[in-house]
Amino acid sequence: MSAEAIAVDPGRVALPMGFAPRLIEWQRHSGRSGLPWQNTRDPYRVWLSEVMLQQTQVSTVLSYYPRFLERFPDVRALAAASPDDVMALWSGLGYYSRARNLHRCAQAVVEHHRGVFPDSAEQLETLPGIGASTAAAIAAFCHGQRISILDGNVRRVLSRVLAFEGDLAQAGPQRELWALAQALLPHAPAPEDMTAYTQGLMDLGATVCQRTKPLCGRCPVQSVCVAHGTAQTARFPVKTRRVARRFENWWLLVMRATVADGRPSFWLERRPAPGIWAGLYCPPVYTDEAALQSALSPAFAQRLHPLEPVSHSLTHRELRLHPLLLDVPGEQAPGDLQGQWVAAEALTGHGLPTPVRQLLATLS
Ligand code: ADE
Repeated sequence: MSAEAIAVDPGRVALPMGFAPRLIEWQRHSGRSGLPWQNTRDPYRVWLSEVMLQQTQVSTVLSYYPRFLERFPDVRALAAASPDDVMALWSGLGYYSRARNLHRCAQAVVEHHRGVFPDSAEQLETLPGIGASTAAAIAAFCHGQRISILDGNVRRVLSRVLAFEGDLAQAGPQRELWALAQALLPHAPAPEDMTAYTQGLMDLGATVCQRTKPLCGRCPVQSVCVAHGTAQTARFPVKTRRVARRFENWWLLVMRATVADGRPSFWLERRPAPGIWAGLYCPPVYTDEAALQSALSPAFAQRLHPLEPVSHSLTHRELRLHPLLLDVPGEQAPGDLQGQWVAAEALTGHGLPTPVRQLLATLS
């Protein structure tokens, strides 16, 4: 390893020789290919895939991406959609601020850029929901711009290859790693090289340089990886601050209007913004059971039927959902509740959080 490493920043970090050519070569032979967002330079398609893939696995995105494109084939169609339509198609992908920003971004591209995404990463980053790494991915994939991505997977790859000791919970070391990522880019790459390099970084992080048990035997840069050479892959990336997950209990008033024959309806309200599941449809939520009961007349409160609690993890929150079922004859709203009846058949057209969609499916 040491024979192949050259120090470009003496006393600090040694940059590995041949990193970019090895990665490009490996991506072309062993990287992921044939994904529906590859082999296009259409910024709309690349942008959509990058936003979907930010916090969601490829296998899940594969089913959402074509449906979204079919409904909104270009940025103007998306910009003209209603927020509810966008949410309904996003429903189940999670991290719903992405969908709200996606819609805002499409509107900004139409209003301020005549419906054409800007070319440079710098300009792309000014648009809603496009962070530095996503902007770099779009500029590299669509225009061959020589710029590095640096998402969570890539941070892991680079911090291991370089044995980067900086604490990535801090802004300073993050900037430092970004500068090193830039220094590792191929020299004077053709646009196809930037595509292969960028995709290679993503593929290596996702399929080989995994968080636990990295598959170093399959790694194209194993021989220049300092963490591997010193048997320290588990120590990188260095990150001190851990996000504390808060536990939260929610009581859900699941009102079901039954009809003689046919499927029921459910009383749903649109979740307020800002907050968890903002803009999605959900049964009314209460922070304790007594508050839920006092929203109902005593006659209805007596007929509440507790269902099995459901756990659901969000980034900073662990939700424990306690659904209480209330069957009402016909579509009448007991008490003074905000919301509307939604027929079981119409649920697919509404944006619902995944655990709520699953719960209502069992009650339809
Ligand atoms: N994750 C983020 N962007 C990706 C891409 N273009 N292909 C596969 N996984 C990704």
